[in-house]
Amino acid sequence: MDIAIDLGTCRTRIFIKGRGVVLDEPSVIAYNTVTHEIIAAGQDAHEMIGRTPPYINAVFPLANGVISKAALVEDMVNIFMSRVCQKRLMMPRVAACIPGEITEVEQHAVVNALSSCGVRRVCLIEAAKAAAMGSDLPFNSPHGSLVVNAGGGTTDIAVISLGGIAACKTLKIGGNLMDEEIVKLVRHKHSLLVGTVSAEKCKISIGTLLQPNEEKECTLKGRHILKNLPQTVKITSSGIRNAILPIAEQIAKSILSVLEVTPPELLSDIQSDGLTLCGGLANLPGFDALIEQHTELKVTVPENPDLRVIEGCGIATQYLDGVSKYYGENVMPLKVAH
Ligand SMILES: Nc1ncnc2c1ncn2[C@@H]1O[C@H](COP(=O)(O)OP(=O)(O)OP(=O)(O)O)[C@@H](O)[C@H]1O
Ligand SMILES: [Mg+2]
Repeated sequence: MDIAIDLGTCRTRIFIKGRGVVLDEPSVIAYNTVTHEIIAAGQDAHEMIGRTPPYINAVFPLANGVISKAALVEDMVNIFMSRVCQKRLMMPRVAACIPGEITEVEQHAVVNALSSCGVRRVCLIEAAKAAAMGSDLPFNSPHGSLVVNAGGGTTDIAVISLGGIAACKTLKIGGNLMDEEIVKLVRHKHSLLVGTVSAEKCKISIGTLLQPNEEKECTLKGRHILKNLPQTVKITSSGIRNAILPIAEQIAKSILSVLEVTPPELLSDIQSDGLTLCGGLANLPGFDALIEQHTELKVTVPENPDLRVIEGCGIATQYLDGVSKYYGENVMPLKVAH
């Protein structure tokens, strides 16, 4: 059995060959801090964030696309795998995606976490390559494609040609930082302490990078810092826009810095095709327009942009056989890791 896994900062997605995407859940695990017993993983654990008694901890065990709490990631992946493959004796082969610029130690952490689930072989693929494959871009041809995968904790910007990466940059910023900026805004403007989960809900429901024609509002509940009492405030779409705009602009400017080091032949392809914007943040209204404004390139957002990486990683499982034959990163989109 061949499986693809996208261990994202915000969400974990699993693809099984022949079945498609079979799991898409928050990358969250909840455990008892005294007995270390695992209480929940995924959506159930996400609902506990900020609502737990002192002896329960509900955490995101990945930060900025890399594993920050290895043992918890192993437990979380084990739970997810047992949810989607009943026949655990089959020892699947796995294609797992990773951010473009991560250290070998960080790559090993991914391989170790997956190996602990009894998989036969783990191969790695950079998220931007997977996003290109999952977006039907010309992957193996000598044609330059610019892909931006903007997620929760990382943003990968890469120029793909001949199945490889010609230029790339991984930024440790994404939707999570936007949520933190909304939390800061509410604290400074209203002296109200709110959680990032509530801030994210507001960002998703009314967040926009466009100048809103009509102001939408979102209610946030939290604790007043001075009065120490529960309180409710309303924030507007313009308020959210002001908080998140600098992060979106930083991403747009970084695309320019990748273009600066892109070989001229590939640049001419990109000039005619534009760029493809994937990842959960591609759903943010006006993000595509903002990038168009900064780069003067046409921006295409594929359908379900947050699933492009896992779909591409799923397509990459077809190379799992070849990996053992050639053992070459340059020939295959997958890197042998295990
Ligand atoms: N409609 C939306 N509007 C604004 N932001 C959104 C929307 N949908 C999802 N997001 C944001 O996208 C981010 C999650 O994207 P994605 O699922 O691609 O991340 P990830 O793969 O888990 O993280 P990473 O790739 O950085 O490790 C979150 O910050 C989420 O709030
Ligand atoms: Mg991702």
